[in-house]
Amino acid sequence: MCGIVGYSGDKSIHSVLLVGLIRLEYRGYDSAGIAAIDQGELEIRKEKGKIKALEDYLKLHPVNGHIGIGHTRWATHGEPSRGNAHPHVDGSRKIAVVHNGIIENYMHLRHELTKKGHLFHTETDTEVIPHLLEEELKTHGTLEKAIPAAVAKLEGKFACAILYEKDPERIYFIKDGSPLIYGKGKNEGFLASDIMAIIPQAKEQCIIKDGQWGWMTRDEFHLFEKDGSPVDVHLEHIKLTVEDLEKGPYDHFMLKEIFEQPDVFRRIIEARMDEKGKVRFPEMEMSNDVLGRVGRILITSAGTSWHAGLVGKLYFEKFARIATDVDLSSEFRYRNPIAEGDTMVIGISQSGETADTLAGILEAKSKFCRVLSFVNRVDSTIARDSDAFINLMAGPEIGVASTKAYTAQLLNMLFFSLYMSGIRWITQKEEREAIFEEIRKLPVKIESILARAEEIRHWAREYIGARDFIFLGRYYNHPTALEGALKLKEISYIHASGYAGGEFKHGPIALIDENIPVVCIAPKTEVYDKMVSNIQEVKARKGKILAICTEGDTMVPDLADHYFHIPAAPDFLTPLLTVIPLQLLAYYAAIERGCEPDQPRNLAKSVTVE
Ligand code: F6R
Repeated sequence: MCGIVGYSGDKSIHSVLLVGLIRLEYRGYDSAGIAAIDQGELEIRKEKGKIKALEDYLKLHPVNGHIGIGHTRWATHGEPSRGNAHPHVDGSRKIAVVHNGIIENYMHLRHELTKKGHLFHTETDTEVIPHLLEEELKTHGTLEKAIPAAVAKLEGKFACAILYEKDPERIYFIKDGSPLIYGKGKNEGFLASDIMAIIPQAKEQCIIKDGQWGWMTRDEFHLFEKDGSPVDVHLEHIKLTVEDLEKGPYDHFMLKEIFEQPDVFRRIIEARMDEKGKVRFPEMEMSNDVLGRVGRILITSAGTSWHAGLVGKLYFEKFARIATDVDLSSEFRYRNPIAEGDTMVIGISQSGETADTLAGILEAKSKFCRVLSFVNRVDSTIARDSDAFINLMAGPEIGVASTKAYTAQLLNMLFFSLYMSGIRWITQKEEREAIFEEIRKLPVKIESILARAEEIRHWAREYIGARDFIFLGRYYNHPTALEGALKLKEISYIHASGYAGGEFKHGPIALIDENIPVVCIAPKTEVYDKMVSNIQEVKARKGKILAICTEGDTMVPDLADHYFHIPAAPDFLTPLLTVIPLQLLAYYAAIERGCEPDQPRNLAKSVTVE
């Protein structure tokens, strides 16, 4: 949710930190700040708002030096303000700390430290850390000794970078629960909560593990376990390239990511199907013996990933004939789910860092269930803490609203359900081959939808003033209706709700009048006639009908005020196509209304707190 970057090297500190923070901005963007050692003194600069505001502030109040730390914040404790922005300092203003995560016992620590004479100036949980370090320094003398003593008193999840004026060559760090990576460049060292902040300068990385702490300089990196024992460090080559992180010809990352979907599909199809017509998951370290014994699946995920889980359930039940339940991870973790023996828990997470989903899979492991996760970040905590993971292979997703990761989740779950059906001898080779044939056609079908993006832009223009939108879909496209509504509201701020078509009569129909646009997802599938009935119900009440239907259909276009057709496909593949125009609708609605689609207000790309 927040982002950390640290640097030691020859380059000018404020430019390296600003570049890193801009890369991390999608993780949180309500305030930002940096700390640097400038001519032997600790200097702090912070500003409310986006990184641009900090950049402007730095022009008026420059800072120099070659070692420093920076932070971009998404407020949890304390409103977004310059005061609450990180870095936070101790009473002597010699120690600066940037922090991701939450210190759960901060009230208690603050109380104890206040009794010892410490004065607090912000509402944040983070401020206790520099004060605690200041206190521990009195007993232990050096930060190297003070850090483990302070960490032992902290409860919660954290990753911190620490700068100390009296130790001006080093950046100290601690990590327990939130991601942190060390990066090595040529005569320079980096620290970051996300590798995106430090490429291409950092060439090699070390992913710091929970409970570890240490320090770095421009050319040294020292890592220790909680008990102080040194860790043997192995650096790995960084594969991500800077092109992966740029918008290219697109105005926004979200649009780029929507248009990348045909290539993402090609990549996944090539990786998942072998020449002999078998499905493969080389990265998944779970044996067929274990998978063959799975009697029930429980999916846990949040937001868009939860919608993907709803489609996944249909795939697992249809192709692998395994009873599957889907839970919101924020509910799953607190309801003591019955998950034992032959239950496999599947966590779905683009970022691999969502706190609730992580807690859910840990809960499942404590019940001795097998845990498989579908993640887009294979270096993430969820990937690491699962028994095995499947790589979504969507490539970096930077737009806060998930698009290509969602369709990659669907496609990978479809392949996984076919893999399971193979293990369980449910689908025959010929049947699977016919399915593969249809899957292979998807990239071209998506391209044909994207080529008509302008049609959707017209919808957005026409309904720019609508206060509410309704999305209706059935069966495979009920999750599409939920996803279309979520996408629209999160980036255009138009209120939207998605419903199963069959539920419409049980309440939501009361909302319909001539001002309400209703997006009816009605491709030619088994439930087509039922969706046509829904469309009739809306029409009878003068609602505006925006229909997604199949090429060649004439009935729905006749009834609808506007229609957009998608190429024909088997029922179970339609959610991979129908969602594309809805992603475009959300994007263009945001643009037409002057909203910033890549960084919607109040949101952050990965929700690492409850
Ligand atoms: C919406 C969106 C969120 C995420 C949710 C879970 O566009 O992106 O709803 O899907 O926060 O995030 P992950 O998948 O990273 O666990």
